[in-house]
Amino acid sequence: MLDVVFRDVTVSYRIGKRAYEALREFSGKFEGGKITVVFGPSGAGKTTLLRALSTLLPPASGTIKYNNIDVYSLGSRIREVRRSIGVSFQEPIFVKGLTLWGNIELTLSASGKLNGENKQRAFKLAERLGVKNLLSKRPKEVSGGEARRVSLVRALAHNPSLITLDEPTAYLDWEATEMVIALLQELREEGKTVVVSTHDPELIKVGDVLYSLRYGRLLGG
Ligand SMILES: Nc1ncnc2c1ncn2[C@@H]1O[C@H](COP(=O)(O)OP(=O)(O)O)[C@@H](O)[C@H]1O
Ligand SMILES: [Mg+2]
Repeated sequence: MLDVVFRDVTVSYRIGKRAYEALREFSGKFEGGKITVVFGPSGAGKTTLLRALSTLLPPASGTIKYNNIDVYSLGSRIREVRRSIGVSFQEPIFVKGLTLWGNIELTLSASGKLNGENKQRAFKLAERLGVKNLLSKRPKEVSGGEARRVSLVRALAHNPSLITLDEPTAYLDWEATEMVIALLQELREEGKTVVVSTHDPELIKVGDVLYSLRYGRLLGG
């Protein structure tokens, strides 16, 4: 199982000559076999935290350790770590000219994980989330909620150890929300490190660990 530990992590964005601290001295753990929920109002730093967690945005200070390894000190070997992470962004990004299935295959092949087993997993996930019949469509031919569910399939197809989902139930009706929650609970049982950001009370309820952010700071932390 994979445990990720943040210690005094500050993440900043450069705005002109100034640095804006979107996450400030955050310390916390994201453990295997648990669902960790990051919540807080818009602008609180949820997406920033998930970016730093999924190795996409290096912190300005502090450390992020994956099973005791400081990931941002790995240099190009960070790419190997990335292969064991599944990410669903707040706004799903698809290549417009490809079908949704083509997009899933592209992501699998980019991480060297395009094989029969993973394709099979993707089909099963798509079936489960009720989007299997949409996979031959192009991204602009489906609704926001459908695109969101396909982005979850894409994030999970390669069987990652760490799963970071940015507002995974945004645009979903209650039925689809229930499907996603059941899936997250199953991933937890499999020992995955599941991390979601959300405002959704239904999703907050299933969190084993809750981090409440406000203005980039952990409340009560
Ligand atoms: N690329 C960026 N450049 C500059 N500022 C950003 C960028 N992304 C986010 N921010 C700022 O950082 C803060 C936290 O943003 P974000 O992590 O997206 O919050 P949340 O996901 O909780 O809504 C906000 O004030 C936002 O305006
Ligand atoms: Mg966000």
